[in-house]
Amino acid sequence: MTRVLAYSDESIAEAARLIAAGQPVAVPTETVYGLAGDATSDASVAAIYAAKGRPSFNPLIVHVRDLAHARTLAVFDADAEKLAAAHWPGPLTLVLPVRGDAGLAKAVTAGLPTVAIRVPAHRAMQSLLAATGKPLAAPSANASGGISPTRAEHVLRSLGGRIPMAIDDGATSGGIESTIVAVGDGQVRLLRPGPVVIDDAVANSKAKIEAPGQLAAHYAPAKRLRIDAQTANVDEWHIGFGSIPGDATLSATGSLSEAASRLFDMLHQADTQHRPRIAIAPVPDTGIGMAINDRLRRAAVGSGGRA
Ligand code: TXA
Ligand code: MG
Repeated sequence: MTRVLAYSDESIAEAARLIAAGQPVAVPTETVYGLAGDATSDASVAAIYAAKGRPSFNPLIVHVRDLAHARTLAVFDADAEKLAAAHWPGPLTLVLPVRGDAGLAKAVTAGLPTVAIRVPAHRAMQSLLAATGKPLAAPSANASGGISPTRAEHVLRSLGGRIPMAIDDGATSGGIESTIVAVGDGQVRLLRPGPVVIDDAVANSKAKIEAPGQLAAHYAPAKRLRIDAQTANVDEWHIGFGSIPGDATLSATGSLSEAASRLFDMLHQADTQHRPRIAIAPVPDTGIGMAINDRLRRAAVGSGGRA
């Protein structure tokens, strides 16, 4: 049984106790809900991989309270310092050389010489970081390959019964996972597009390193998903955008930030409708629209697997 507790000092204290005992707890961040565990504990990190069914080659993001703590785990060059100063706390993850004395569990980085690290802006994750006093490894709180959760009820649909507890602090504000960039050798390489749009980043298609988790088939709804759909067939639940109303809409006004915050909720909803397929209207490929389209392309490739 998975307990769901509303965000409060007491629920954070209970979550910290579970994490100290090696159990992972779902907690909201400003992007999506994460499944948090002590990044310095082998047992804690192993429990995260087990609950998600995540392959061990796919490393985790480490969340810390502030830049000072981050500097004890990774090597920051001038580019990294600049990006951290501009965007932390917030939805930007930096992939940096891991320090020899970082003290992280080996499985967190999946054997890579780098660590993915971010300072989250959400009160629940920040309180949990303070209560545990540890860096917290937290992948999105969904079964591996599924849609990221933006509400506690999404966490339950995906991981209910597999984790002891989730903290409910309502829908997340951002709705799309953090931007991931690798920094080093005077270059900033984009590994995953997200809420923070980095203009001078080298796109990941030509970069040598990629986020191991960026498999083409990902974020998959259970039903088959068709993208760029101006109209829908009778057997499709249509998700609209802007002037295309659909059965439900990402944003009636054509706001990309509203669309980002509602995207995963719309996909979760579509999965529960009686129509067997999903179609989704075109979304402009600008700003955070690039991150939305990145997730939709992956969702379309992987969709229908569990229909
Ligand atoms: O917004 C987010 O980033 C959310 C919240 C909970 O913080 N977390 C999240 O984690 O999306 P996850 O595990 O679902 O995605 C993390 C991605 C994966 O694609 C993983 O392969 C990549 O980060 N990653 C982690 N460490 C890496 C590293 N050292 N080098 C390259 N990619 C890395
Ligand atoms: Mg994920």
